[in-house]
Amino acid sequence: MKVLVTGGLGFIGSHTVVALLESNYDVVVVDNLYNSKIVVKDRIKEITNKEFKTVICDVQDETKMEEIFKEEKIDAIIHFAGYKAVGESVSKPLEYYDNNLNSTITLLKLMKKYNVNNFVFSSSATVYGEPTRVPMFESDPVVEATSPYGETKVMIERILKDIAKVNKDFNVALLRYFNPIGAHKSGLLGEDPNGIPNNLLPYIAKVATGQLKEVNVFGNDYDTVDGTGVRDYIHVVDLAKGHVLALKKLESKPGLVIYNLGTGKGTSVLEMIAAYEKACGHKIPYVIKPRRPGDIASSYANCDKAKNELGFVCDYSVIDACRDGYHFQVEENKRNQK
Ligand code: UFG
Repeated sequence: MKVLVTGGLGFIGSHTVVALLESNYDVVVVDNLYNSKIVVKDRIKEITNKEFKTVICDVQDETKMEEIFKEEKIDAIIHFAGYKAVGESVSKPLEYYDNNLNSTITLLKLMKKYNVNNFVFSSSATVYGEPTRVPMFESDPVVEATSPYGETKVMIERILKDIAKVNKDFNVALLRYFNPIGAHKSGLLGEDPNGIPNNLLPYIAKVATGQLKEVNVFGNDYDTVDGTGVRDYIHVVDLAKGHVLALKKLESKPGLVIYNLGTGKGTSVLEMIAAYEKACGHKIPYVIKPRRPGDIASSYANCDKAKNELGFVCDYSVIDACRDGYHFQVEENKRNQK
C-alpha cells in the first residue's frame, strides 16, 4: 500500500513516516520545508534503513502535485501539511485560511480525479473550543474555534464530512490530537522550532539546556489541581502509531470516522515541569505570569473510542516523553554547534 504523506518532514509527520516504513508501507513524502528541514529525510532513512521518495513542493501547487498523482499509484493520503501556530494565526488570518484550506482542497480535487479514496486528516482538540466539561468525547459538539488556526481545522472537518456524505467510496479519519510532545528515542527526530517556542514542552527543553532563562507559567489561578493549565500530553511516537492504526481502519471502508488521540490523562504545567526535572536530572527555574489570552483551564481526551475501534493504547508516559524530548534537544544542540 502506497501512502502520500504531506508535511512528512515535520514534527508529527516525520515520526509517522518512521512508523509507516516500520509497518512496511510504501511512502511518498511531500513537504515544502516551510517549518521543517531537509536533513530529516536522511534521519528517517538512518532510523528505518528504508528508502522512500521525497518531493519538495507546496501542496497548493496543483501542477506539481498532479505529477505525483500521475506517477505514483497512491492508495491513501495522510495530510499533515499546514500552518499551526495559534497566536500567529490571529495576526495572519488570511494566510492561515488560504494555506490550510487551499492545500486541502487541492488534494481533495486530485483525489477525486485520480480515484484515491482514503484520507487521514490531522485535526486537533481545538475543534472542541472552550469545553463545557472534560474529558472531551468525539460526540461533543464541534464549535466555533478560538483562533483562525483552529477554525481551519473546524472548516476542513466540515468539508470532509460533506464529501463523505455524498461519496460513499470516500473513507476518511479525522484524528483529533491533544498535545503531542517528546521525540524519537534515537535523538534524531524531534521538535526544534525556530525562535522562541510558543508551546510548553519546546520552551521547557530550551530552559533545561540553558538556552532560555526560566519557564513562564501562564496563570496559577485556574480551577485545576494546582491552579495551572491542564493538558493531555501524548508522546509523538504513540501519536504516530495512531495514524498507522487509522490507515488500517480505513482498509475496512468505514466511511467517515473520528478519533481523539490522547492519553486520557491530564497533566498541569507545574506537574510537567516536575516531570521534566526528573527526566533531565536538574531543576527547571520558572516564574508565574498572568494567564495567556485564549487559554482554557483543562483539556484532556476520552480515548475509549480509539482504544475499542483501533486498538490504540499509549506505550509512553509523560516522563518518557520528557526524557526523549530532552535527549533530542541535547543532541540537536550538539549538531547545531558543529
Ligand atoms: N504554557 C505555559 N508557558 C508557556 C507555554 C505554555 O505556562 O511558555 C501553558 C499554557 O498556558 C497551557 C499549557 O502550558 O496551559 C500548554 O500550552 P501549549 O502552548 O503547549 O499548548 P496548547 O494546549 O495551548 O495548544 C495545543 C496546540 C494547538 C492546539 C491546542 C488545542 O499547540 O495546536 O493545543 O488542542 F490547537
